[in-house]
Amino acid sequence: MLRRADQIPPEEMSSSKKEIGTSAKEIGEARFFAGDVLERLQGLDSASCALVISSPPYNIGKPYERTDERTYDEYLAWQTQVIENMLPALTENASVCWQVGTYIADGELFPLDVPFVEIFRGLGFRLRNRIIWRYNFGYNADKRFSGRYETVLWFSRTNTYTFNLDPVRIPQLYPGKRHSTSKGKKAGKPSGNPLGKNPSDYWEFSAVEDFQNNPVWDIPNVKANHPEHTEHPCQFPVELAERCVLALSKAGETVLDPFIGTGATAIAAVKHGRHAVGIDRYPPYLAIAEERIAQYAKGDLPLRPLGKPVRRPRSTERVAQVPLEWRQDQTEVELGSAGGEDGEG
Ligand SMILES: C[S@@+](CC[C@H](N)C(=O)[O-])C[C@H]1O[C@@H](n2cnc3c(N)ncnc32)[C@H](O)[C@@H]1O
Repeated sequence: MLRRADQIPPEEMSSSKKEIGTSAKEIGEARFFAGDVLERLQGLDSASCALVISSPPYNIGKPYERTDERTYDEYLAWQTQVIENMLPALTENASVCWQVGTYIADGELFPLDVPFVEIFRGLGFRLRNRIIWRYNFGYNADKRFSGRYETVLWFSRTNTYTFNLDPVRIPQLYPGKRHSTSKGKKAGKPSGNPLGKNPSDYWEFSAVEDFQNNPVWDIPNVKANHPEHTEHPCQFPVELAERCVLALSKAGETVLDPFIGTGATAIAAVKHGRHAVGIDRYPPYLAIAEERIAQYAKGDLPLRPLGKPVRRPRSTERVAQVPLEWRQDQTEVELGSAGGEDGEG
């Protein structure tokens, strides 16, 4: 049985020395390397990767960070070293998608996209998009507004970069819209692109199961209902990586994730005819990544299909209705019989 990262003894959680130097495991088009990112990056073939998609640790005390607590400055210095070590493996016109959230110290928030823009710029990268990934689950804060988005920073090394819009277009909201009669030759013709519209820099992928036939939104940890959920505490959905793979790389190229976790980037790459290289220092996560790739190859990996709309409950569903107790409280407040006490929330 797979162990969660917080069930693994510290000596195994730290840089797994015995893994370093062992040969890579090849599964289909995906190769995974166990070991510390700084060392493993140095072993990659030079100029071999056209795209990087990754979500680095945020230094917020996740189980896989237990052994290397860093101050904010130490963390940024380490990440700078990671990106520097990645450079030789990148092609001249490579793109990098760095998916980041927020470092929190003593309740104070440090949004990581801010320093990362400067770090990448300092290493010669150019920012092409700062994408908001909005999701619909998470910690319910009571001393600030609950966080519900992270960012994906897309950088290119040069001005000559791959950007394929057509494979990632999404359905038009108003496909029947036409140019006005004052538009000359275009007058009266459909104004949108028949292939769909640009998905914009605001991405919304469901991180929960589609509850169409299974309305269980009152289960506390809805994350656990996502079809892709594993023991890993911070997966990103394969869909997110798929959009980056399709738009920012060509078939046959290699996509690298230096913090591959459970293999979302590799699945997205292989699914769309790219090669994948992944590094992670925790063997149990790589075991999940390998298992998922193998399942994908057999056609039985549960995935949310790319472009599937985020599900919203119908007004007739129980979860969408105001509970009876709240309606009664409201009536009491309105009648002035609530005792005049300030309530929470
Ligand atoms: C935010 S998670 C990435 C999750 C991944 N995107 C997914 O969907 O499963 C960061 C990963 O970095 C790995 N990691 C942390 N420190 C590392 C290091 N020094 N070298 C290699 N991997 C490391 C952790 O094991 C963890 O799986």
